[in-house]
Amino acid sequence: MLPDGVVTLADHEDRVNTVLSPQTLAYFNGGAADEITLRDNMRAWQRIPLRPRVLRSVAGGHTRVSLLGRSLAHPILVAPMAYQRLAHPHAEQATALAAAVLGAGMVLSTQATTLLEDVAQLVLTEPSRGPLWFQLYMLPDRAFVRKLIQRVETAGYEALVLTVDAPVQGARERERRTGYRRPPELAAVNLAGRVAPRPRELQAGQSRLFDDLMTHAPSWEDVTWLRSITHLPVILKGITHPLDAQQAVACGAVGVIVSNHGGRTLDTMPATAHLLPAVLQAVGSEVPVLVDGGIRRGTDVLKAMALGASAVLVGRPVLHGLANAGATGVAHVLRLLRDELEIAMALCGCRSLDEAATLGIVDSTWPTRAHTL
Ligand code: FNR
Ligand code: LAC
Repeated sequence: MLPDGVVTLADHEDRVNTVLSPQTLAYFNGGAADEITLRDNMRAWQRIPLRPRVLRSVAGGHTRVSLLGRSLAHPILVAPMAYQRLAHPHAEQATALAAAVLGAGMVLSTQATTLLEDVAQLVLTEPSRGPLWFQLYMLPDRAFVRKLIQRVETAGYEALVLTVDAPVQGARERERRTGYRRPPELAAVNLAGRVAPRPRELQAGQSRLFDDLMTHAPSWEDVTWLRSITHLPVILKGITHPLDAQQAVACGAVGVIVSNHGGRTLDTMPATAHLLPAVLQAVGSEVPVLVDGGIRRGTDVLKAMALGASAVLVGRPVLHGLANAGATGVAHVLRLLRDELEIAMALCGCRSLDEAATLGIVDSTWPTRAHTL
């Protein structure tokens, strides 16, 4: 049941403090190091001013967009997030079902706690559903990756989202302070059977990070390899530099997601609202550019679309909804965002999201200027 008095995504976040342990909250809500990027992500959207247009007819308006050849009811997708069973026993199945019913896209994490086949089976026949994508972490065991991709293809996923910004974990100090440890019974079930590399013996002066862990990190060659072993379109998540965005397209990525991993990896990266314009400019209007990080209001979604994004992904608020009320909670979060988006569009004189980018409702130089101030 949805708790009383929860009418915004912020209310969901407040409420979740009474539902989850401090350790789980630290894992879900925390960011890297001083959490500057985590905070900036939210603030940046909040501080972009909207410049509404008035006296325009928005009768017949709608939130539909097209993305990779599909028409979507609205541009909101659920970001890939690991270990959702920590939030609720119905875990990724509840998230995926709620997303499907609300017409939102769903990106299943490599580290999901539900079999990828079970998630697909649950939602593929839902007529209103948005896209179903699989997020991939490139694992050292490439033979296992190949088999995993085959499963993903057979199950009916429509794209692969390769996350490229987290070859190692960020410094998650909130987790360390609270003593967060993943409960041993919580498994990334889709990774059963993979061979994890054994820690290397290091010579004197060698670094665990550079001479062991990072030797398994993915590279641009792996993007090319991935494309060669799958017929699914590949999207790169965690692209923030305009030159990387161009290289992603040159390697055959069909789209990129501007993301700093919700401030969970490298602290002091700029907010994604500030990074988006340069990436858009670098790849041109033919390549879909999605964005995530700090999106908490319908106005944030509208601003992202007005800047030229093709869609947005929402992370933590979905986990809050899930913890508060399972599938109902996730559906509520998505519904609130969608309703807020419609209101924001109507008040900005915006009949469609394609139109949003043409009406001058955000000053497209603002994020860049704000960032350099
Ligand atoms: C994530 N994120 C993430 N990204 C990814 O590519 N694979 C993953 O498995 C995870 N896991 C994960 C777990 C948790 C608890 C969080 C909060 C986030 C990052 C996620 O996809 C997204 O980039 C950010 O969460 C977006 O920022 P907001 O909306 O949470 O501010
Ligand atoms: C995280 C990893 C799983 O952000 O992506 O927790």
